[in-house]
Amino acid sequence: MNLNWEEAFDLASAIREKSLHIKGVQKIVFPPLPYLQMLSVIYKENTDFYVGAQNCSEHEKGAFTGEVSAAMIRSSGSNFVLVGHSERRAYFSETNEQLISKINQALKNELNIVFCFGEVVAERKSHVHFEAVKKQLEEVLDHFPKENISQLVLAYEPVWAIGTGETASPEQAQEMHAFVRIIIAGIFSEEIAKNISILYGGSCNTHNAKELFSCPDVDGGLIGGASLKAEDFCTIMQSFS
Ligand code: PGA
Repeated sequence: MNLNWEEAFDLASAIREKSLHIKGVQKIVFPPLPYLQMLSVIYKENTDFYVGAQNCSEHEKGAFTGEVSAAMIRSSGSNFVLVGHSERRAYFSETNEQLISKINQALKNELNIVFCFGEVVAERKSHVHFEAVKKQLEEVLDHFPKENISQLVLAYEPVWAIGTGETASPEQAQEMHAFVRIIIAGIFSEEIAKNISILYGGSCNTHNAKELFSCPDVDGGLIGGASLKAEDFCTIMQSFS
């Protein structure tokens, strides 16, 4: 919940200009809902730029004042939606049942889903982070139809690293991402586990991005605070090339 319309326009335009020469990186920008359409227009000409929503309703349509449906998001020109961000889970008490419904709505409307998960600090400190992540993945993704798997991207975001300036070390990120592939192989198949994209999120910045993204099982990043500065966001994008 950052930036007014004008500031968002300037940021989106600057990101577009500064990243034009960065090839071979798929870029997705997730603005607040009122700016979805504006960004879809700004990035229209760029084939490697996509726009996504940070949330969608678990309901299809109707009298749910203040909610925004997956169909509305799709028809505003977006291709992606985030589901299960830790802030949605913590501040809006989103349950696994709601996350499953949101995923179903997104699939029905041909949106790709970036499914976020990650342990809280207490789980990391008491060494139950692997169990916590396994549970989050299994309880939701067991309901995910295998035939729609190409619409799923995963994002490991340890909650203790989001917006805190504290980042998982490359070793911690790699270890968890490799573990996630084992869980995904169990839920779906080895083939799917090998090919699915797993992003890392949590205080990624211009200093740590290259090292994090060079881990063999880290396929991309979900960038929060650092994406509010076009220069930094584009430097992070560049760390893939
Ligand atoms: P951060 O946010 O990069 O500021 O930690 C990540 C996120 O909110 O997904």
